[in-house]
Amino acid sequence: MKFFVDTADTEDIRDLAATGMVDGVTTNPSLVAKTGRNFFDVLKEICAIVDGPVSAEVTATSADSMITEGRKLRELAQNITIKVPLTWDGLKACKTLTDEGTMVNVTLCFSANQALLAAKAGATFISPFVGRLDDIHIEGMDLIEDIRIIYDQYDFDTEILVASIRNPNHVKEAAKMGADVSTIPPNVLRSLIKHPLTDKGLADFLADWEKTGQSILDT
Ligand code: E4P
Repeated sequence: MKFFVDTADTEDIRDLAATGMVDGVTTNPSLVAKTGRNFFDVLKEICAIVDGPVSAEVTATSADSMITEGRKLRELAQNITIKVPLTWDGLKACKTLTDEGTMVNVTLCFSANQALLAAKAGATFISPFVGRLDDIHIEGMDLIEDIRIIYDQYDFDTEILVASIRNPNHVKEAAKMGADVSTIPPNVLRSLIKHPLTDKGLADFLADWEKTGQSILDT
């Protein structure tokens, strides 16, 4: 499963990219607004850090304007992926932009039927929002399971990009279900490594090593 990092914070992206764990980046207007920086500067910088797909979201609502914005955004870098909302206009824009060879991420997906429409419109990625479904007491991960079944049934190439991830369990369940990508907030990605027995085991090994009085480099 690929890991995308779900942030527009370039310092976080640079730090996490150094671990080799970052296969791409997703942003949205809220994440860009949080940085307080110019949209184009932020996206250009992210594309220079990460080779994989970097989602930049359109803000227009009509298909024609989304297509115009998408064409402008894709000039930023070869790895830009145009993010469009799951509306009829968004699907029209998706079809046009993917026909032109541009990667498109269809976002704000909350149902399996919406995911089916996005795949039929040729989406490169579909972004089901699991956390926001959990927020309204609907099991977000059930949606991932349903989409996986439907896409496999019809051999759709659209990649399932699990979005609105809030905790490590979302990542584990997404991997078990065969999702193609998880887009993960930096704090959740960093927390994936944590296990108290790893910390305790390392502390014990180092304490015992200290007692030997030896040093690997000084020998
Ligand atoms: C990513 O593409 C989505 O915009 C993001 O994961 C939404 O996450 P949130 O529901 O935590 O805002």
